[in-house]
Amino acid sequence: MAAETLDKQRPRRLRVSPCIRKLVSETLINPRQLVAPIFVRPGRGIVEPIKSMPGINRYSVDTVGEYVSELADVGIEAVLLFGIPAVKDEIGSSAYDREGVVPKAISAVRDSVSSTAIIADVCLCEYTSHGHCGIIKDGAVDNDGTLPLLGKAAVAYAEAGADIVAPSAMMDHQVRAIRGALDISGHEHTAIMGYSAKYASSFYGPFRDAAGSVPSFGDRKGYQIGPSNRREAMKEIALDIQEGADIIMVKPALAYLDVIAEARRRFNVPIAAYSVSGEYSMLKAAGSMGLVNENEAMLELLLSIKRAGADIIITYHAAEAARASISQR
Ligand code: PBG
Repeated sequence: MAAETLDKQRPRRLRVSPCIRKLVSETLINPRQLVAPIFVRPGRGIVEPIKSMPGINRYSVDTVGEYVSELADVGIEAVLLFGIPAVKDEIGSSAYDREGVVPKAISAVRDSVSSTAIIADVCLCEYTSHGHCGIIKDGAVDNDGTLPLLGKAAVAYAEAGADIVAPSAMMDHQVRAIRGALDISGHEHTAIMGYSAKYASSFYGPFRDAAGSVPSFGDRKGYQIGPSNRREAMKEIALDIQEGADIIMVKPALAYLDVIAEARRRFNVPIAAYSVSGEYSMLKAAGSMGLVNENEAMLELLLSIKRAGADIIITYHAAEAARASISQR
């Protein structure tokens, strides 16, 4: 550039005042694209704090509706439900029990706030006595034997009124199996959000404590993606789209922003990023130790996920972020 043109460039002009800065902001956090994960459990009148996740509770079926309507009041109109069953067994029966905790919670939420989008997590790990995401055969997770059970769970949740089912078991062909099971039972309008690029991450620690789903032997490296691999994530996403996923997901979010960005470039479907329990609790810990301004850091981290290219962000900070983005207006 010629010297005189260069002299005319003053990037700080667009930073001089809050109104100008707002006008030129390239990325926004909009509560309508935030999803709040919720843990539901059996019992009555229960709002039980989760130690490893300050500010997050487990709700019984009769208290979850009120919580979801409070979320709607601050602008969060999408929830992702996880069930913690009364009994766990070898084959995760409670996951696909029509009278189970998740179908009941879905009806309760539907009764109290008809306009909230209900997403139901589909996996066996919260429901199996061994804590793995599928059934066990000869000491290993049996991929193809698990598929019909995931299909049954998805149908039970769709029947109860879920808008979207979200398979997180990382079994090969799980999206195809679930799409088939939904279609054959008349739920062709129930959408699938695939946990397509789900990494074997240490950031799930607090969730496993919350859901009591720590594997009793081995780990999940035989089915979740290794942190070193991005091309493999692209392959998983492409397969999920071919199998019928309507929305794809990258999980966790912060340590995988490059994966979100690459998925955004390659695929023309809505992308969800799941900012997981460990990301949440890490910031809570830093905030409570006075190391960072928690609210500002939260918005900065959420912006990084948006900037990387996510449309939807699933985050335990959803309600706080909605309140913060309202007060920033
Ligand atoms: C599996 C599932 C997990 C999470 C969401 N779905 C746990 C796992 O794979 O161990 C983790 C979410 C989080 O850490 O917030 N059903």
